[in-house]
Amino acid sequence: MSKNLSDLSYRQGLKNNLFDKLGQAASKEGAPSSKDLEVLAKEFLVGNATTYGTASFYDFMKPENKGKKVYVCNGSACICSGKQNKVIDDLKHHFKADEIGHMTCLGRCHENGAFHYNGKNYSAIEVEKVIGNQPVEEDVYHVGGNVSLLTQNTAFNDFKALLQSALNKSKDAILNEIKVANIRGRGGAGFPMGFKLESCKNIESDTKFIICNADEGDPGAYSDRYLLEKQSYSVLFGMMMAGYTTGAEWGVLYIRAEYPEAVEIVQNAINELKTQHLLGENILASGFNFDFKIIKAQGAYICGEETALINSIEGQRPEVRTRPPYPTQQGLFNKPTIVNNVETLAAVFKIIQNGGEAYSKLGTEKSKGTKLVCLDSFFNKPGIYEVEMGTPLKAVVEDFGGGFKESVKAMQIGGPLGGIVPVGKIDKLSIDFESFANEGFLLGHASIVCIPETFPMMSYLEHLMDFAQYESCGKCFPCRLGTKRAHELLKKANESDFKIDKHLFDDLMNTLQQGSLCAHGGGIPLPIKNALTYFESELKQYFSH
Ligand SMILES: Cc1cc2nc3c(=O)[nH]c(=O)nc-3n(C[C@H](O)[C@H](O)[C@H](O)COP(=O)(O)O)c2cc1C
Ligand code: SF4
Repeated sequence: MSKNLSDLSYRQGLKNNLFDKLGQAASKEGAPSSKDLEVLAKEFLVGNATTYGTASFYDFMKPENKGKKVYVCNGSACICSGKQNKVIDDLKHHFKADEIGHMTCLGRCHENGAFHYNGKNYSAIEVEKVIGNQPVEEDVYHVGGNVSLLTQNTAFNDFKALLQSALNKSKDAILNEIKVANIRGRGGAGFPMGFKLESCKNIESDTKFIICNADEGDPGAYSDRYLLEKQSYSVLFGMMMAGYTTGAEWGVLYIRAEYPEAVEIVQNAINELKTQHLLGENILASGFNFDFKIIKAQGAYICGEETALINSIEGQRPEVRTRPPYPTQQGLFNKPTIVNNVETLAAVFKIIQNGGEAYSKLGTEKSKGTKLVCLDSFFNKPGIYEVEMGTPLKAVVEDFGGGFKESVKAMQIGGPLGGIVPVGKIDKLSIDFESFANEGFLLGHASIVCIPETFPMMSYLEHLMDFAQYESCGKCFPCRLGTKRAHELLKKANESDFKIDKHLFDDLMNTLQQGSLCAHGGGIPLPIKNALTYFESELKQYFSH
């Protein structure tokens, strides 16, 4: 990362944002022109290499994707559903092959057959209907579970009443509720939110930022999309409380471009707060100032990693930063910054409404509260289920999901870096961080992608490694080179008689795990190793020992 570039980007503040402007320039033709890049470089006092380096990183800004008119989802759930080839074939009746691009993932894992056209997402729907401009219904999924905190509707009046009462309390009192609740981050790493807020609060700075990480890139996960679209006020409330406790006056929502509806709905909610004078200066005569800015991402999985995300907002190439310093010390524009996941922030609403102690009574000793779990279209009742931490996985699969529609051999839980759980392990797991870690898996964001009996495990691993190498930010050698080589090996063995040297492959996985700078390269060996352990009989034909 360049400290200098962060400072230059900050000169224009958040309102005139380089990354935003690059996105706007790209929206005309799918990529900014060289002229656009030069003009923006001049305006922001950076070199042409900086604007080019940034634009060429993102799916929706890179020159190769110029002219794409429609995008087909190639996330794991859509791939496993086997529906995407038909979508592509149908689209080819209307578009040239080079006008059809890919997006990963559209958050339509409950229906699959997903594609993006004219700024909107569709799934399980006939292509003809969409292209012919016929009315199409909203996607539907079940919302349920064994507890309802996050899924309980937060109306504007609930938001206003709770904001009023919260701002009447001291900052320390609010922080204390969050600490007592003992909520751990829902974005994957499980870091305690109260601890993060406190360390940011304790740093002296005239400017601080709260970032909502709404880059939900894990194929299989659409719970953040649900919260953004259906519970916007809870998410915004959580960000305001994070600002109140730490002294930050700006909340930035970094929302992925693959969720256009979420961007629009959250912007409408922010506009409503502005109209009702619940944003800006001296909110409800409390002395608290706060405002929001939405940054629309441009298609890069790694931007979900918090430091890459910060570089992205600054208009820099979104490579992962080394830590320390941590974002709470030097984050956005080098200022102390909180980055939290959508679900973590949304949970704050009930924590403040019911008290931290009530929240901490839910869950297990080390995993408190509730978790949203996303089920894909292989379940009889696909959808989003809110469960108390510690709920048996079996209950999620059978009672809430209604079991599988067809024979499934494994589930990838927790995104592409999550474990591959054979169905035989369902009885051994419960929805909490420790249970998954103890069994050698990862709860992550708790999305479930089913791998059907008919889907070759080798093809699944090839798909995973393809994703990993494509999305690598390139900052460190083990991941930049290792994911690429691993993908080449898996592909070659899958397509020919070539056998992978098992010792070399194990060595490569260990190098990725131990030598990578962030959890992207460090995490991808987990599902591969799980598959090699639990599906050895299916996979051994591809390896020489
Ligand atoms: C490759 C990679 C992708 C990630 N993607 C996301 C994401 O899409 N959303 C998210 O909240 N966290 C994601 N994270 C985790 C973030 O870096 C960070 O830990 C999180 O946003 C912190 O919020 P939390 O404490 O509320 O979980 C990702 C991490 C890695 C390594
Ligand atoms: S592990 Fe991969 S994604 Fe993470 S810093 Fe290294 S190259 Fe970038």
